[in-house]
Amino acid sequence: MHQLGLGGELHGGGGAMLGGASVYQSRMQLMLTSQPTLATSRLFLRPFCMADAVDVRRLAGDERVARTTLALPFPYPEGAAEEWIAKHPGQYEARSEITFAITLLENEVLVGAITLMAVSKKHSRAELGYWIGTEYWSKGYCTEAVVQIVRFAQEQMELSRITGQCLAGNPASARVMTKAGMLPEGRLRMHVRKGSIFDDVLLFGINLPARSIHYP
Ligand SMILES: CC(C)(COP(=O)(O)OP(=O)(O)OC[C@H]1O[C@@H](n2cnc3c(N)ncnc32)[C@H](O)[C@@H]1OP(=O)(O)O)[C@@H](O)C(=O)NCCC(=O)NCCS
Repeated sequence: MHQLGLGGELHGGGGAMLGGASVYQSRMQLMLTSQPTLATSRLFLRPFCMADAVDVRRLAGDERVARTTLALPFPYPEGAAEEWIAKHPGQYEARSEITFAITLLENEVLVGAITLMAVSKKHSRAELGYWIGTEYWSKGYCTEAVVQIVRFAQEQMELSRITGQCLAGNPASARVMTKAGMLPEGRLRMHVRKGSIFDDVLLFGINLPARSIHYP
């Protein structure tokens, strides 16, 4: 049910360690997945673990975060974070969906989540979803995570196209995708129902260098 963006689910499992990841390291001893971790200049992206559930509920349970997503429930139910996190290892093993906790490199604090959803090996593509806790908005964290995830998708998952979508009334998300190099690809008019209204959806995408057109 936890969905990043407008489409899929969001939270994740364990791998390479970086300096300062001690709490994470101990948490990861409880995890059984081989999902890698990723680092940027300010962020450490890692699989979620059950110990994150309290923070997930606090951050994703904020009405301002739920407001522009379709799948985050509000009010956020008791147990929903645990349920969501428990699905991640299986989703990673199936390579159907890959979710990373977005944490600060300097202090390991959880600030949000990012997911590659609807991963299609056949079509060599996936869709992005993400949220960031309100107290961490507009610091560039989401854009930094998106850039890193696109690189991960390209280099480690051998995907050649990443898409994303957001409600027309979500300029921050549209800005994130634009800043990360994704291009606007259209608008689906009154495509989704959010509360009592039908809202437009904006489409974004990036075709990576490996993607080429083959004519028969
Ligand atoms: C969308 C979201 C993930 C962005 O996270 P973030 O870490 O604040 O994003 P960044 O800081 O990397 O970039 C946000 C950009 O949007 C801009 N922005 C924020 N609010 C804006 C608004 N109301 N109008 C226009 N631009 C806005 C910021 O100024 C920034 O752009 P800048 O760097 O050019 O100044 C966060 O707002 C969020 O979690 N929202 C709720 C959940 C959600 O909507 N998820 C996405 C569903 S598609």
